[in-house]
Amino acid sequence: MQRLAQQWQRSGARIGFVPTMGYLHAGHLSLVHDARKRVGKTGKVVVSIYVNPTQFAPTEDLAKYPRDLKRDLKLCREAGADAVFTPDDAEIYPGKAEGKYSTYVVEENLARVMEGAARPVHFRGVTTVVAKLFNIVLPDLAVFGQKDYQQSAIIKRMVADLNFPVKIIVAPTRREADGLAMSSRNKYLDPEQRAQAVILFHALQAAKKAVATKAVSAARLKKDLGGFFTAAPLARLDYVEFFDPETLQPVAQVKRGTHMALAVFFGKTRLIDNARF
Ligand code: PAJ
Repeated sequence: MQRLAQQWQRSGARIGFVPTMGYLHAGHLSLVHDARKRVGKTGKVVVSIYVNPTQFAPTEDLAKYPRDLKRDLKLCREAGADAVFTPDDAEIYPGKAEGKYSTYVVEENLARVMEGAARPVHFRGVTTVVAKLFNIVLPDLAVFGQKDYQQSAIIKRMVADLNFPVKIIVAPTRREADGLAMSSRNKYLDPEQRAQAVILFHALQAAKKAVATKAVSAARLKKDLGGFFTAAPLARLDYVEFFDPETLQPVAQVKRGTHMALAVFFGKTRLIDNARF
């Protein structure tokens, strides 16, 4: 992959990159189309498919994370990708099983809150694998989804802090017809849970409406949203935060320009969503 990318670079082609963990849906594919638009017909678009073990805690769903490489490759071909990089663990973390892999990339500020607080090893795994993938794929630009807003903010910070010559694009969240954000994990939901999962989107909309004309205290909004969740008895709210979109630090007053993110459990399945007001 790296040799191919070097050849492409020498020929003057721009490289657009979409890192994924596979089990692709229309949200992922919208990133592929976005990358294509930006690098043009003469550019190259690379998709990576790798379920990265270091971003899963031992208690999480690594082993049962959904996989369908054959279908993914077909979707990538149809979306016009020039290459799909599908490394295995031995290629990405050589010697890890024998304790011979020891270099990680850690963002120490934005990665502490929200998803980072709920999933302590998660972002260390994300920044490490994305840094490695950037060094292999040598992209001019990489497209990430707003669906994982905190992840995109951390990647932007990593790229700035470590001088990666890569432009980071954040593309809008693709949703199902009822508003549920598309996610590979939606597949775990049973029909009843799936019907109630739209509560994440409804909570974002309700909060947005509440602050449309006036600022509201974050404490007040959190309390109101708590009551709101009685409409979805299968949902267990993990966190809801109102924060500054740059620093990710919580704000006391929620107004236009504030960002909201939430995580909700349905059984063992954990869904996240976010929006800018
Ligand atoms: P994964 O969850 O497969 O997501 C790959 C990319 O697709 C991410 O940038 C994510 O934000 C984006 N995405 C997911 N759902 C989306 C939706 N509904 N609309 C738009 N974009 C969406 O995120 C990861 O993988 C991994 O952490 C990775 C960056 C690949 C590192 O392992």
